[in-house]
Amino acid sequence: MLQNARIMVTGGCGFIGSNFILHLLDRYQSCRVVNLDKLTYASNPANLRDVEGDPRYQFQQGDICDVDIVKQLMANVDVVFNFAAETHVDRSLMEAGSFILTDVLGTHVLLDAARSHPNVRRFVQVSTDEVYGEMPPGVYAKETDPLHPRSPYAASKAGGDAQCIAFFESYGLPVIITRAANNIGPRQHVEKLVPLFVTSALRDQPLPLYGDGRQVRDWLYVDDHCRALDLVAREGQSGEIYNIGADNHEENIRVAEAILRLVEKPLSLIRYVEDRKGHDRRYAVDSSKLRALGWLPQHDFLSALEGTVRWYSESRWWWEPIYAGPFRDYYERQYGQRLASGVPYEAKGGASA
Ligand SMILES: NC(=O)c1ccc[n+]([C@@H]2O[C@H](COP(=O)([O-])OP(=O)(O)OC[C@H]3O[C@@H](n4cnc5c(N)ncnc54)[C@H](O)[C@@H]3O)[C@@H](O)[C@H]2O)c1
Repeated sequence: MLQNARIMVTGGCGFIGSNFILHLLDRYQSCRVVNLDKLTYASNPANLRDVEGDPRYQFQQGDICDVDIVKQLMANVDVVFNFAAETHVDRSLMEAGSFILTDVLGTHVLLDAARSHPNVRRFVQVSTDEVYGEMPPGVYAKETDPLHPRSPYAASKAGGDAQCIAFFESYGLPVIITRAANNIGPRQHVEKLVPLFVTSALRDQPLPLYGDGRQVRDWLYVDDHCRALDLVAREGQSGEIYNIGADNHEENIRVAEAILRLVEKPLSLIRYVEDRKGHDRRYAVDSSKLRALGWLPQHDFLSALEGTVRWYSESRWWWEPIYAGPFRDYYERQYGQRLASGVPYEAKGGASA
């Protein structure tokens, strides 16, 4: 399926997409990859600088909402992996229009182009566990569960998923949807929790921890996600949904503490700040369906975190320019007031809280 395939990856200059392209080119000597990416603030073309000269790799700057460009590329590919999306929950709370455009309309444009190109034999929609909404303690979302997205980001991803299901049901398009847990690893934008905390710690800046810090996420190492996507494209069934979870559930406060221990900085850098609006308490998926195909995560929470922290510690060239650019304004808007009125770690009882 992938060895000799012509593969379109959308959003390949972002975090997971770039890791996935490196995975493909490493694993499949005869594949060809075209990367369609709009190059939004979240992208970094340097993510793929190691493969720029690889004859199997082609970059095309463009928007997945652009029907002409999408149709043109779709004529020459066998497999599509759609990573392109607006992805940050906090930004979706400030402005959701771009999320609807890319995550819903953009997905529709890709599906519609794939429908009129029978050469496309697999379309993988890279979705998220956030579409299920928050899970009560002890409960794990199954693929058959109803969706209950609670943030504008999650709602837009759910809209994209619904488009995919409609195109499978209506036209028999060979679509597979994956719903993964929170990823960590190299090349994730510093706006997201783990890179924000790691780079803040490395800069001796406070770690802004939302609410009581007891929100639970399942931390999936990006390489494990890439192997899962590779597997479902080859072995999964069209029209099916596959959850991708590593069972690495940790509270955000424990993540912050673990990061500070790894970089040998004081826990007093943690600052409790005003919570995110509608902040989902816990995500958790049942990924037994994927595991039945033969996938197992290779990274537990600590090894995933160590790999991530090591990369950011060694890659200041990658993230320091982000802090010097437009991200500064976003950071100030999101965290300036919150940090000014934040509560010190010690005031809430520290590690025993
Ligand atoms: N990061 C996670 O923890 C996580 C977990 C589960 C699922 N996902 C999904 O995985 C996918 C990739 O996530 P990520 O964290 O790598 O995202 P990211 O924000 O790091 O990268 C997104 C990429 O998409 C590109 N893009 C945005 N809009 C585009 C458009 N209209 N046309 C073309 N390209 C566009 C950006 O330029 C960027 O390179 C997303 O669909 C996301 O919903 C992410």
